Amino acid sequence: MSLSLSADQPDVPADADDGVWLECIECGETFAPFDDVRYTCDECDGLLEARYEELPTFEDFEGEAPGVWRYSAALPFDEGVSIQEGNTPLYEVPRLEDDLGVEALRIKHEGMNPTGSFKDRGMTVGVKVAKELGVGRLACASTGNTSAALAAYGSRGGMETLVLLPAGKVAAGKIAQASLHGARILEVDGNFDACLDIVQELAADGEAYLLNSLNPFRLEGQKTIGLEILEGFLADYDAVPDRIVLPVGNAGNTSALYKAFRELVQAGALAEDDVPKLTGVQAEGAAPMVEAIENGADEVRRWEDVETRATAIRIGNPVNAPKALPGIRETGGTAVSVTDEEITDAQRDLAGEGIGVEPASAASVAGLRKLRREGVVGDDERVACLTTGHLLKDPDAAAAAGADPEPVPADTDAVLAHLQDAE
Ligand code: F0G
Repeated sequence: MSLSLSADQPDVPADADDGVWLECIECGETFAPFDDVRYTCDECDGLLEARYEELPTFEDFEGEAPGVWRYSAALPFDEGVSIQEGNTPLYEVPRLEDDLGVEALRIKHEGMNPTGSFKDRGMTVGVKVAKELGVGRLACASTGNTSAALAAYGSRGGMETLVLLPAGKVAAGKIAQASLHGARILEVDGNFDACLDIVQELAADGEAYLLNSLNPFRLEGQKTIGLEILEGFLADYDAVPDRIVLPVGNAGNTSALYKAFRELVQAGALAEDDVPKLTGVQAEGAAPMVEAIENGADEVRRWEDVETRATAIRIGNPVNAPKALPGIRETGGTAVSVTDEEITDAQRDLAGEGIGVEPASAASVAGLRKLRREGVVGDDERVACLTTGHLLKDPDAAAAAGADPEPVPADTDAVLAHLQDAE
């Protein structure tokens, strides 16, 4: 199977362009990467992946400016439409590490990207491909962060952008970003999955170039999250993490991290046994991937009704499941669901270490806590939790999880009296 960790490096097909091509993960059909607009396989409609004639090892990433493009040896180009994305912190969290009782815990905070989420890593590559293809309008469906990133990178690239959002279900910070960066915003009377159905149809009709994670080039950029985590752990612990815990919506990151690790294994830079266990976390009200993992199913059942406070992962039809399920299984990982209350508690836990994240991001820490409680994660494990978006993305959720402001008169004595009263 082409998605197994031990798969051999494929032969270079005639339609490769400078050692890069697209391959269907289902039937193996290959395509030239930049000649035509294509998101899925012409033959069987399967998902596509970028393939490379040469796969890099860690040495190939040395000596260049930090960020996504430091990893250009693992990407289809040497540079993209960039706003200096990537190179995000891998925070130590000593109190949380103690509390959760693992050997080591680090937080990879993707909220520290230019638009405040990991989506920037995919867009710097995806928008570059759009320019290469010479397409007109860029479009995406979004629970918010993709739309903010698309708007920013589209405007950086001088391109028109269109975003479809589920009405009333997108956090305020994200809409504000898409709006100021100049996207045309359509609020759809339906959930994210319905928005994506429409954008896919618009893209199929040639109305727009689709930049959701169904687009294989977005995931190439997102591989760099995994590469940065591995390099960070190697520098600090002389070993890669045993496990990476991450929130799951469309399962793009799960797929991208798995691809990054697979390529390192194929390049001989990472032992198969050392690949971190990919561990996905979903909100209880939107957990189709967890259901599939628990049932040992090959396909994910689409959930029509989804609900969670973590609106970024309010998704019932994870389109990258055919790439992500093998990723979770082949690495010995798992998937788990958490309640909205557990998510908010984890948001407070992270805030207590000075790390501000939006609710979906906190799902990773909530999931780790649950898996420690259940004994699935051992106390000897070194773990990285991915936090995907910044606190300010969803100011309403942050304010609701935090303390209320206390009104006082504009008078020092009254302020002192108020402080004493409260003690
Ligand atoms: N965390 C955040 C903050 C997100 O915005 C998303 C996805 C995810 C996690 C899930 O990542 O899809 O790779 O499994 N947000 C998309 C959006 C759907 O439109 O912004 P995934």
